[in-house]
Amino acid sequence: MLVRMVYNSVRNMTKARNFAFLIVVALLVFAILSLLSNTSSAASDDVNKEYSIVPENDTMALCFESLQDTRKLLYSSTDNDNDIEPEPIIYFVTPTYPRREQVAEITRLGQTLMHIPYLHWIVADDTSVCNNFLNNLLKKFGIPYTHIASPMPEFYRTKKLVPRGVANRRAALAWIRNNNKKTGVLYFGDDDNTFDLKLFSEIRSTKKVSMFPVGLIGDYAISTPVVKHGKVDGFFDSWPAKRKWPVDMAGFAVNLEYMGLSPNVTMPYKAGYEEDEFLKSIGLKMQDIEPKANNCTEILVWHTQTKNNKPPKIRISNGILRNNQFNLGVLLKKLETMGVSHISQSEGTAAQITKDGKSKSLISWFS
Ligand code: UGA
Ligand code: MN
Repeated sequence: MLVRMVYNSVRNMTKARNFAFLIVVALLVFAILSLLSNTSSAASDDVNKEYSIVPENDTMALCFESLQDTRKLLYSSTDNDNDIEPEPIIYFVTPTYPRREQVAEITRLGQTLMHIPYLHWIVADDTSVCNNFLNNLLKKFGIPYTHIASPMPEFYRTKKLVPRGVANRRAALAWIRNNNKKTGVLYFGDDDNTFDLKLFSEIRSTKKVSMFPVGLIGDYAISTPVVKHGKVDGFFDSWPAKRKWPVDMAGFAVNLEYMGLSPNVTMPYKAGYEEDEFLKSIGLKMQDIEPKANNCTEILVWHTQTKNNKPPKIRISNGILRNNQFNLGVLLKKLETMGVSHISQSEGTAAQITKDGKSKSLISWFS
């Protein structure tokens, strides 16, 4: 519109007026450009700008859309038929430990496992006391589970390389032995990893030891067996460290009958070498390994890590915390229980409430 107006007027003008007009336009363009280059004013303009919902200059491509619901029920009706062999149980062992992200991690993992039938979740917490809050969370998923409190011996905590999750996995191995679990499949799934649902149908058929790639590991971004003619023939892992079995904890599953053949199954407190030592202790041989995930060409588990930030301290008066006329007291106390944040009477970031774009102290909000 503006362009057309300028063009028309330019055409109708004499050459002299035309020249003067062009100078005015050039000055205008210069003024606009210098205004845009002023970042502080551009930033404040940005905040106040109304963004239209329909993209104007954005590139957007709709790639795929499915309007069909193809989800399957967990237990198909044929499962009740007596002549069908029962599915092997997957014993999914998760070491976990108290820190501010614990509830978030366990929520995400629990909701992944909710999709998996015939699974027994062994959650071993690196703490000496049973955490009731955690237990109530575990109960809600409806998955058969065992909640263990299995603290790492203090001695190892002070070491330069701490053997993380070992006390927990040892406790889970002891539970399996003490409860005479002799069939099924064992898998070590850390609380912060990401699991594709397909992983479970793959590992369920493990006869001895199955192996598969784990994404987001080390300088190769993957740790995987190397498969030749359908057989595992080596390993691709950026930290070989002279390990016989250079694999990640999430990269293998073990059949319990097979494990039962070895009398000295263990996982020593040897940081970095837990997988290697465990697999040696079950007497693993190269020919015993079954490659999964389409001959190790698919990534069904990811070694994701959650960024760890310090819990903030929020300054808020006790009176307001106890006031049950509004939600903040309940909410902040809950976060304190989970270790996500702390409440203090005298220190930390002062609690404020924002309304109509203005922030006020809680006292003045109440009055
Ligand atoms: C990597 C491997 O993926 C783990 O299988 C291995 O146990 C670990 O290194 C190690 O050997 O140190 P990474 O992501 O570096 O894992 O370690 P974390 O996720 O911090 O810890 C592994 C597991 O142990 C987690 O499930 C975590 O909840 C648990 N853990 C961690 C504890 O139980 N106590 C701790 O003090 C720290
Ligand atoms: Mn991890």
